[in-house]
Amino acid sequence: MNKKELYTRKPDSDLRETTMNTIFESSHPLVSHKLTRLRDKDTDPKKFRELIREISALLAYEATADLEVAPKTVETPLAEAAGVELKQPIGLVPILRAGLGMVEGIWGLMPSAEVWHIGLYRDEQTLQPVQYYNKLPLEPTVSVCLVLDPMLATGGSAVATVDILKKWGVQKIKFLGILAAPEGVDAMQKAHPDVPLHLAVIDSHLNDHGYIVPGLGDAGDRQFGTG
Ligand code: PRP
Ligand code: URA
Repeated sequence: MNKKELYTRKPDSDLRETTMNTIFESSHPLVSHKLTRLRDKDTDPKKFRELIREISALLAYEATADLEVAPKTVETPLAEAAGVELKQPIGLVPILRAGLGMVEGIWGLMPSAEVWHIGLYRDEQTLQPVQYYNKLPLEPTVSVCLVLDPMLATGGSAVATVDILKKWGVQKIKFLGILAAPEGVDAMQKAHPDVPLHLAVIDSHLNDHGYIVPGLGDAGDRQFGTG
């Protein structure tokens, strides 16, 4: 197949039929527009980071639609007003490095969220995740975690991170990613069917090196200018 052939998602994967309730693929025009610029190989790291930040906030808006709230009354200058406040402590869990760029846009929406970093890199030969950073305390301090990683490729990194958070004792976990391969979605559904996936798009497939096609290349390198 010609390298520049136009790749789109595989049309009717069985996977999508069986997992409709937990996979959210954005169809928002703002997300699609920004995603197209993000993919473009001519987008420079500054713009790339800006787009990651903006897309992440848009995904988080949808992903947090079912957060629990408790009643709260405030005094306006005129009268009492019945309102609500967020009930559960929330943790943002970026997978280093590339997940870091997703934090800021989401943190702006929920500034009291805690941020817990998990450091994983993919071994280039085996494509297996290797953990290098985890400073979670013994007891969980949050009850909802949003795992942040722009790329869900084989799914190894996401599965390993959710394993860690479940062992930590987190009650509710969601994964927020920008690009996914069907292989990664499948891996998450098999290992953690209870974890909803909030994605900008599910691409066509993984290539022989485990890269998402058409994808955007290496999300860490493109953010940090290290490619
Ligand atoms: C990338 C990406 C994910 C992982 C996805 O990280 O940010 O964490 O690969 O691949 P997987 O689904 O097959 O596990 P990478 O290992 O390149 O590290 P980096 O973010 O530090 O560049
Ligand atoms: N990690 C990336 O940064 N890009 C891919 O396509 C796959 C894994």
